[in-house]
Amino acid sequence: MRGAMGDMGVVAVFLIFSLLRLSSAEISSKIGINYGTLGDNLPSPNRSVVHIQAMKAGRVKLYDANPEILQLLSGTKLQVYIMVPNNEISSIASNQTTADEWVINNVLPFYPDTMIRVLLVGNEVLSYYSDQDRQMWYDLVPAMHRIKNALKAQHINNIKVGTPLAMDIMQSSFPPSSGMFRHDLVDTVMVPLLQFLHDTKSFFFIDVYPYFPWSGNPSQISLDYALLKGNVRYMDPRNGLIYTNLLDQMLDSVIFAMTKLGFPGIRISISETGWPTAGDVEEPGANIRNAATYNRNLIQKITAKPAVGTPARPGVVIPTIIFSLYNENRKSGPGTERNWGLLRPDGTPVYDIDLTGKQNLLDYAPLPRARNNMPYRGQVWCVVARGADLMKLRPALAYACGEGNGTCDALKPGSECYEPVSVIRHASYAFSSYWARFRSQGATCYFNGLAVQTTRDPSRGSCKVPSVNL
Ligand SMILES: *[C@@H]1O[C@H](CO)[C@@H](O)[C@H](O)[C@H]1NC(C)=O
Ligand SMILES: *[C@@H]1O[C@H](CO)[C@@H](O)[C@H](O)[C@H]1NC(C)=O
Ligand SMILES: *[C@@H]1O[C@H](CO)[C@@H](O)[C@H](O)[C@H]1NC(C)=O
Repeated sequence: MRGAMGDMGVVAVFLIFSLLRLSSAEISSKIGINYGTLGDNLPSPNRSVVHIQAMKAGRVKLYDANPEILQLLSGTKLQVYIMVPNNEISSIASNQTTADEWVINNVLPFYPDTMIRVLLVGNEVLSYYSDQDRQMWYDLVPAMHRIKNALKAQHINNIKVGTPLAMDIMQSSFPPSSGMFRHDLVDTVMVPLLQFLHDTKSFFFIDVYPYFPWSGNPSQISLDYALLKGNVRYMDPRNGLIYTNLLDQMLDSVIFAMTKLGFPGIRISISETGWPTAGDVEEPGANIRNAATYNRNLIQKITAKPAVGTPARPGVVIPTIIFSLYNENRKSGPGTERNWGLLRPDGTPVYDIDLTGKQNLLDYAPLPRARNNMPYRGQVWCVVARGADLMKLRPALAYACGEGNGTCDALKPGSECYEPVSVIRHASYAFSSYWARFRSQGATCYFNGLAVQTTRDPSRGSCKVPSVNL
């Protein structure tokens, strides 16, 4: 018996070894692309799938389970990531039938012809902070369990279940060895999440953008370090690990945070990363030169054979998905939000990029000069964007003036900015005045795309348009 058990043990070990090899073979180092659709001028899903294939992406990540797109992806070689929207998490967490129905309605019609390989539950769930959102934090892992059970019930074993998180889950990330998750999340969310990812051999999906820490401290962090140029070195004083770029530093802080909670082995996958090609006046470093440099260096690093990994985990493949396919004009927030794309809305590339990593970096055509790597100092106004829809301008003007505090006193008949009576001039005044007054409370110069920042003073004669001083 003993002998037989021993042989069984050997067979079992061999089987497990083969399975591990199989499952790691599933995970290539091919670069993926995030396919966001928050634009009113984007190519059809049909054209988009053609673009994604022409770019030689290895995988594509959606922010939902759009049936038209999933149908178009069937028969392609693209690995597909789909997503349960945040607002469905709580009902799935509380009811297995709801989870089963989600899988039946969103996976079964397309699988396996569409190579769905990852099912993400929610998007950056832990980055929303209202009371209702906090309920969603606690429902996240239970929902992931239910979705996993629903897949098992359909005998689907090659779809990983995960959830992409943002770097604001970190309490501390510098130096990387000090990496720790936010105290308010550790026991309630992170430990159960890590247990789930460990037990199901899934990935820790992280949205990681060196652009944000750099643009917040451009005088303290080297731009080359953020752009993965490899010419700057930093040693973590606690363990002597040598870092040559900010991305590795951020990834390792997550690895150290997981290790401290007793999960040293969970694999990391980058669910979003990238660099914006344009943005507001107040956002330094958002330009084509930096974006091309970052993404090209990223691709070289991720697709290198043998795999590079990070200082804490050398040699390990990090499946990576670049953000994003298109510039998306309906995204709110700062100007960079609408400028992460590799393609313009008409499908032409914003800059050349080879997702396979085979093109030598020296063979690309020269890039335009970077003009905004230093933070801008001076006055900025918020005016009507070129091509803004005039029909939408009146309600936006009314909104800006309706927020009170004398925002539009100068526009009253007889006041200094009343003449000329033009919707565009009045709206430019109102947008600037509103932004100048309420920026400290979080107001942005956006107005659903009707407004842009400018360093050119729109004041005329006695009409002085309020500005923001950067
Ligand atoms: C997709 O594009 C192809 C080729 O351009 C065209 O023949 C087909 O009708 C399109 N399908 C849809 C659903 O638009
Ligand atoms: C779970 O959801 C199903 C279908 O939506 C519903 O019929 C059932 O009553 C729900 N069960 C509970 C316990 O709420
Ligand atoms: C209006 O401005 C004053 C002084 O700047 C400020 O104290 C007050 O809170 C503002 N009111 C609103 C509604 O923002």
